[in-house]
Amino acid sequence: MTNAAAQGSVAEVFEWAAPTYDRTGVSFFGPLGAELVRRAGIRPGDQVLDVGCGRGAVLFPAAEATGPTGHVTGIDLAPAMVTLTAGDAARAGLSQVAVLVDDAQRPDFPPRSLDAVLAGLVVFLLPDPQQALRSYARLLRPSGRLAVSTFAAQDPAFVAAMAALAAHLPADQPRPTSPDHLFADETRTGATMAAAGLTVTEVGEHRIESRFRDVDHWMEWLWSHAGRALLGRVPATRLDAATADAARALDDARTPNGDLCLRTTVRITVATPAASI
Ligand SMILES: C[S@@+](CC[C@H](N)C(=O)[O-])C[C@H]1O[C@@H](n2cnc3c(N)ncnc32)[C@H](O)[C@@H]1O
Repeated sequence: MTNAAAQGSVAEVFEWAAPTYDRTGVSFFGPLGAELVRRAGIRPGDQVLDVGCGRGAVLFPAAEATGPTGHVTGIDLAPAMVTLTAGDAARAGLSQVAVLVDDAQRPDFPPRSLDAVLAGLVVFLLPDPQQALRSYARLLRPSGRLAVSTFAAQDPAFVAAMAALAAHLPADQPRPTSPDHLFADETRTGATMAAAGLTVTEVGEHRIESRFRDVDHWMEWLWSHAGRALLGRVPATRLDAATADAARALDDARTPNGDLCLRTTVRITVATPAASI
């Protein structure tokens, strides 16, 4: 698959996911977005770009932090994400927010015009993350910050359930790959940032717990985000069997109350442009 085709299919997955993305009653993207904004140190009056804004898990806390004297532009390649999030911002009366269709691979903004670029759970989806980070470095003022979140650790029960689903893919379908090696750990992430002309100033991990009523609720959540890239390739005739296998794999996550609890750890890396950029 070419880079352009891969990008097209990523945007298509999120286009379909947009109406239910972060709307299934699961605590996941919201708290992670708020923590990314907190660590980025957004101040009143800041000019901010949120790349791959989705339904605004990062955008809305950022807009609260900038206040009406600042500005936050959210960009996303999926038009439905943009339409729905722009509507939410308008209904909330947030005059400091704009939401546009634009490519996070190379955002179309003037150099050195921003106080912060925020990238919540998106850089590893891009065709060339290194080049994207380099373009963010160029958009930042010398005192500006880039804050990026990437996955540090998945719950073993989640990994097992995803493997159970993937076992039902037709033989000719590619198997899901692990998160991009450029962000595999703190050292690799630091090297990736340095190669893009960025100096890391802070790295931290943030762990959240997400609760699901049962396996059907977990599947509903999976359909609502990038997980649908896998689910959409499981033949309809095999979905019931795949769900039953996933339910068995999720048994280790069952709590005494009977619901499911999955723990996810995200790494948040904050960097500034190196002097030579
Ligand atoms: C996992 S979601 C994260 C959304 C949001 N930042 C959050 O934390 O909830 C990734 C988002 O990035 C968008 N995306 C993927 N590739 C993109 C690209 N090349 N340019 C802009 N947006 C992109 C998707 O459409 C999706 O909305």
